[in-house]
Amino acid sequence: MRITRATAAATAVALSLVLAACGQNGEGGGKQEKKGGKGSTVGIAMPTKSSERWIADGRNMAAEFEKLGYKTDLQYGEDDVDQQVSQIENMITKGVDVLVVAAIDGRALGDVLHQAGEQGVRVISYDRLILGTEDVAYYASFDNEKVGELQAGYIVEKLGLKDGSAEGPFNVELFAGSPDDNNTRYFFSGAWKVLKPYIDGKQIVVRSKQTRLDQITTLRWDGGAAQRRMDDLLTSAYSSADVDAVLSPYDGISIGVISALKSDGYGTAAKPYPVVTGQDAEVASVKSIIAGQQTQTVYKDTRALAKQAVQMADAVLNGKKPEVNDTTTYDNEKKVVPAFLLDPVSVDRSNYRATLVDSGYIKESDLT
Ligand code: GAL
Repeated sequence: MRITRATAAATAVALSLVLAACGQNGEGGGKQEKKGGKGSTVGIAMPTKSSERWIADGRNMAAEFEKLGYKTDLQYGEDDVDQQVSQIENMITKGVDVLVVAAIDGRALGDVLHQAGEQGVRVISYDRLILGTEDVAYYASFDNEKVGELQAGYIVEKLGLKDGSAEGPFNVELFAGSPDDNNTRYFFSGAWKVLKPYIDGKQIVVRSKQTRLDQITTLRWDGGAAQRRMDDLLTSAYSSADVDAVLSPYDGISIGVISALKSDGYGTAAKPYPVVTGQDAEVASVKSIIAGQQTQTVYKDTRALAKQAVQMADAVLNGKKPEVNDTTTYDNEKKVVPAFLLDPVSVDRSNYRATLVDSGYIKESDLT
């Protein structure tokens, strides 16, 4: 065929239409996007069953997806990174249509998610942002920086520093979450923003001098590791002083911290427990709050988070745009991941019933 200017132009138009269609579908040059519709299978990869919140997250999502007519494949990685990678690999091999992943290690999923991308399987990052990969479409989480602000704000308020009713100095120790979880730095930066002016003003003193994130993290959020670190801090920095507050980012860590404090003689009228924060409103911690040990936790309604993730996956599978409310904050080093962020709520003895029991999140009978 002789190529005329007209046929060349027509070919170019046709080609650009094809390319545009590919771009729209796969958002990644030539990748095929799976379009599920009802009857599709959703792979749900959760990090661990060692904490009740993740059990509830998985269960809630599976129920919501099934209500909409999807099949689900729900797996727990038991805090073992390799296990989570191979679970996701298997899901892709078995042909899931979309993935919802709460990563154990935010940086370890690049290769396996690349495979997902190649097969047109879109990925929703759940609660924890997956880092260093283009192959993550959306992020459903809470305002993670606000979680840290609520924890530190609670300390500042309870110590009387906020309203000026006390001047200090108060002894505060800092704990952070797992170094491989992206949330950790958001929680800590929110908390640090609130505490720093008081540390600079010497109204708060960190006697251990451990204030850098790399000094205070807790691998895999492990309560036992937190207990050992608190034991060490009490021995090395508190032989002649008491702890007034502990910034804890997560209920499992708070429980470990409180065990160390208890072994050191805290929890009596002469030596009361310090203010101890937390996160997740786990039943054991809410009981501890009622018993006057842990002081505060941050409630994140995992039922609402599950609904958001399901909404995102359902939209993606039906060729629609999911609802997002943040398109600037969560840069995973390859792209800014469009996110839907929910609001965390501070809970202590004064409002646990109104927030947790009245909303049906925890049954009153589980707290006795
Ligand atoms: C974080 C999560 C927290 C807490 C923690 C330990 O990623 O945002 O709510 O659950 O993991 O599991």
